[in-house]
Order: sequence, then C-alpha cells, then structure tokens
Amino acid sequence: MTSLLVFAGSTRQQSFNRRLARVAADLGREAGAQVTLLELGDLDIPLYNADLEARGTPVDVLRLKEVLHAHPAWIICSPEYNGSYTALLKNTIDWASSPIKGDPLWQDGTLPFRGKVVGMLSASPGALGGLRSQSHLAPLLTNLECWLAPKAFALGQAGSAFDDQGALVQETQRERVRAVVDQVLWAAQRLQA
Ligand SMILES: Cc1cc2nc3c(=O)[nH]c(=O)nc-3n(C[C@H](O)[C@H](O)[C@H](O)COP(=O)(O)O)c2cc1C
Repeated sequence: MTSLLVFAGSTRQQSFNRRLARVAADLGREAGAQVTLLELGDLDIPLYNADLEARGTPVDVLRLKEVLHAHPAWIICSPEYNGSYTALLKNTIDWASSPIKGDPLWQDGTLPFRGKVVGMLSASPGALGGLRSQSHLAPLLTNLECWLAPKAFALGQAGSAFDDQGALVQETQRERVRAVVDQVLWAAQRLQA
C-alpha cells in the first residue's frame, strides 16, 4: 500500500485548496493508498530565519521533515498569490529543506524531498485556477529532486465548484483530480519497486 501525503498551501478556514486537498485525499483512499492529510496550520513553524535556526530547529520542523520523508507520494494543492505560490508554501519548503548541521539524517537538506512523486493541484476563484502558481512551484520541486507527475489540474471558478459537503459539483473535475492522484500513485509504486 502506497503512503500518500496531501497538503494545501493555505490555512484559511474556507480555503478552496484545503477543500481540494480533502477531495484528493478521499480519491487516494478510494485508490487504496494510505493517506495522510497534513494541515500546515497544525504546525507551529515561524518565518524562516537562519539566526533563529542556529538556536535550534523548531520541533514542528522536525515533525514536518519526518512526515515528508515517510511518504513516497505527495499531492500539493497550491493557491495562487500574485501569479505564484504562497509565502506559506515557500516557508514550509524552505524550513523542510534546510540542512541541520551535525544531524545524521537531516544534515542532508534534500532528503525529505528526493525521489518523491508529486502531483500538483491548484484552486482559485479566477478563470485560470491558480495554474501560474504551479508553473513557479514546479522548478522549485524539481530543484529538490522531486519527480513531478505529468498530469496536473487547476480548478477555476472555485467559488462555485464545491457543494455544501465539500464535494466537487462537476464530475468531470473530480475525474481530473482522480487522474492526477492515480498517476502519482502509479509512478510512486514503480519508483519504490
Ligand atoms: C495577495 C493575494 C494575491 C492574489 N493573487 C492571485 C492571483 O495572482 N491569481 C489568482 O487566481 N488569485 C489570486 N488571489 C486570490 C486567491 O486565489 C484566493 O484568495 C484564494 O481563495 C486563495 O486560496 P485559498 O482559498 O486556498 O486560501 C490572490 C489573493 C491574495 C490574498
């Protein structure tokens, strides 16, 4: 059984990307994966500052590194701010990739990322669905030696895309999310073999 990690780059209560993450997590479970839905808002992680880090890596950064490392397959739901991904997502990735000097495992900053198969999703009230955030996120993840799934999906007009239960109204959109999740699991299984 493949372990799938799903998280969104937003902590907003009514976040479209958190809703999309829940849809992706459900589809992962339907596909037989063991799914962890990570809420970045549950982690107590400050804005990255090397002076702060020199005084000791925050406990929740260690938790973050462990959870990333433990999952070979990821789905990231990326909101779009000013044509790019959010500061939250960047801060999370920066902390997770920062080497911890002298630590036998985490002195390798790339370790939590290397070899992960990542599917990108995004959601926005706009017509492009946050697609431009994906185009910025992709090289960052590739730089950290992630393998990006060729399939991705950007959910436009997200304000009317979900019903009251958080399900996607249009079946075709749910199938687009499923295609990304399935491809990520397919590739992760083969990379692990
Ligand atoms: C500072 C800022 C910049 C934004 N820039 C964009 C943008 O470039 N493209 C876009 O589609 N939406 C943009 N938005 C709107 C977000 O897509 C919208 O707030 C969305 O709900 C954020 O994702 P979330 O619902 O998961 O929190 C921006 C929002 C903020 C606060």
